[in-house]
Amino acid sequence: MEGLSRLEYRGYDSAGFACIHPEDNRLRYVKAEGKLHNLVAQLELFPVDGFTGIGHTRWSTHGASSVRNAHPHFDCEKAISIVHNGIIENHNELKSRLLQTGHSFHSDTDTEIVAHLFESLSKTHKTFKSAVVDLVSYLQGAYAFIAIMQDQPDMMVLVRKRSPLCIGIGDDEMFVASDMLAFAGKTNKVLFLPDESFSLVRKDMIELYYFDGTSLPMQVQEVQVSWDTYEKQGHDHYMLKEIYEQKGAIHDTVDFLHTVHDRIWDNMGVTAQDIVQLNSINLLGCGTSWHAGYIAQFFFEQICMIPARLHLASEFRHMPLFAQSNSLYVAISQSGETADTLEGIRLIKSMSFATVALTNVSSSTMVRECDGFILTQAGREIAVASTKSFSTQIAALYWLANRIALEKKIITSAQMEQAEEDLLVVAEILENCIENYKMQIMQTYAKQYAQYSKMIFLGRHISYPFALEAALKLKEIAYIFATSYPAGELKHGPLALIDADMMTFVFSHPDPIVYQKIVSNVQEIKARDGKVTAFAFEDQQQLIDIVDVAFVIPRVKPLLGSLAMTGLMQFLFYAIAKELDCPIDKPRNLAKSVTVE
Ligand code: F6R
Repeated sequence: MEGLSRLEYRGYDSAGFACIHPEDNRLRYVKAEGKLHNLVAQLELFPVDGFTGIGHTRWSTHGASSVRNAHPHFDCEKAISIVHNGIIENHNELKSRLLQTGHSFHSDTDTEIVAHLFESLSKTHKTFKSAVVDLVSYLQGAYAFIAIMQDQPDMMVLVRKRSPLCIGIGDDEMFVASDMLAFAGKTNKVLFLPDESFSLVRKDMIELYYFDGTSLPMQVQEVQVSWDTYEKQGHDHYMLKEIYEQKGAIHDTVDFLHTVHDRIWDNMGVTAQDIVQLNSINLLGCGTSWHAGYIAQFFFEQICMIPARLHLASEFRHMPLFAQSNSLYVAISQSGETADTLEGIRLIKSMSFATVALTNVSSSTMVRECDGFILTQAGREIAVASTKSFSTQIAALYWLANRIALEKKIITSAQMEQAEEDLLVVAEILENCIENYKMQIMQTYAKQYAQYSKMIFLGRHISYPFALEAALKLKEIAYIFATSYPAGELKHGPLALIDADMMTFVFSHPDPIVYQKIVSNVQEIKARDGKVTAFAFEDQQQLIDIVDVAFVIPRVKPLLGSLAMTGLMQFLFYAIAKELDCPIDKPRNLAKSVTVE
C-alpha cells in the first residue's frame, strides 16, 4: 500500500490489489472505487496476503471509475491477474474475437482483453515465454503490464512497450513498478526494462527478452532515490503549502543553475559551439508546462534573439516536423513522465536532433531518454495543480535564455548576474503580493468570485500565456469555466459574451505600449457594462481606476511581469476553490502525471 500510495500521482479513480495465497496458491483480490484510502479500508475488512502480489491505482481511460473497472483484471478462470498502464488501441477488435471463442468479460476496460488473450495463448503454447512472444504480436498501443498466475505462483510476467516499467532487485525479493519511487528505500538496484521487451521474474531470478524472444543483456543500475514524506506543515492543503514554497524554490533553482553555470552545456548534452551556432529553439510540453514554454518563447526571442517555436506535445506527433539544423528541442515537464511529451521526444530523437529535458524529477523517464537535462529545484509537488513547478520552470527558462545570450556574446557576465538577481527579486515580490492581499481575498474576494460560473481571462504579449495558465488553474481546482484571449482579440468575437454574469480578469503588462492597448481593451468591456478585475502594476493608474477590482503588483522587468503575478493568481484561485469546498489537492477526473497519450 505504501508503494501504491507513491504512485497515486498517476491516478486516483480506483485502486486494487491481488495476490496468490501461499496455502492454496489461489488468487485473492480486493478492489475499491476512488482514492487509495478506500482500498486500505477494504483490506482491513477483507485482509489478503501472499508472497506474490500486484496492485494498481487507476486513471480511467476505458470504462467508468467503478469497482468493476478497477485493476487487477482477470481471465475467465480467475487464474491470471493483470495490472496495466497504457492503452491497448486495438482492444475492440481483440475483444470481438475473444467473445466469439467463448470468453466472457467483467469490465469495460481495454486491460481485461490482455488477461483473456494470455489465457487462450497459454493453453496453446508450451512455455510462458513463447506465449508472451505471441501475445505481444496481437497488441497495438503503449503498454506496461504485470501478470501473476496461479499456475506459476512464484513468478511475474512483465511486458513493456513505450510505457515505463522497472524492476527493483532486493535481497531474495523483487519489486516491479512503473516508477522506482514506489520501491525507493527497499533497494537502489534497478533494471529499467528496455522498450519492447518482456521479463519473467522470480524472487531470485530475472529473465529478460526482446519481443521476438531473443535474450537481452541485463543492465542493472545503482540509482540513489529516496522517498521523503511531506506533511502539510500546518497548511490546509498541499497546494497552499506549495504556493508558499515558491520563493524558496525559485531561489534554489537559481542557486543550482548558478553552480552548474560552467558545465551547463555538458549537462544538456550539447557543446558551447552548438550554442554559439544555435539559430532556433523548440519548446515542447503539455498543460502548465506548455504555458511556461509559451512564456519562455518571449525570453528566447527577446534575450537571445533567436526564433523560438512552441509545440503542444499532444499535437506534435501529428504535425509535420521540419528539420532544422542548429536547433535545440527542450521538453518541459515537471514529472518527466508525461506520455505525450515523451512521445514527442522519441519522434525528435528518431530524426537525430538533440533533446533536452527541463524537469523537476531527476529519476524520471525523460532524464533517461533525452540527450541532456536541466533540473528545476522545486522539490516534490504533491498537489495536482502545478504551482511551484510552473514558477521554477519560468525561472530556469529565463536563466537559460540569458545563459545562451551570454555564450553568444549578446549579453555580458554582469548582465547575466543581474538576470539572476532579478529572478531573486521577483521571487520576493511573488510572495509579498500574496501577503498583501491574503486577508482581503479570504474575507471578501473569494466569496464574491465563487458566485461566478464563467470568466474571461485576458492578457497581451507575455501576459496572454499567463492568462491561459490562470484559466487552467481556475478550471482544474474550482471547476469554474474560464476561457482566455489575447485582449486585442475580444473585439473580434468574444465581446458578445460580455454581460452582468461574466467576470473578466485582465493581466496587465509592465511595458507602457502594451499597457496602453490593454487599457483600451478594458474600456471596450466597461462600455458594455462588463465587470473587470485587473492584475495591474504600480502606477498603472488609468487601469486601476476603471476596473471594479485591482490587485496591484510592484514594478518588475517587463519579461518577468507574469512571474511576479504568479503567487497571487494561484492564491486567489485556491481561495475560490476552498470557498466552493472543492477537493483542491486531488481534483476530480485528473492525475498529477498523465501517462497515456
Ligand atoms: C496543471 C498541470 C498539468 C501539467 C501537465 C503536464 O496544473 O499540472 O497541466 O502541467 O499535465 O505535466 P508535466 O509537467 O508533468 O509534464
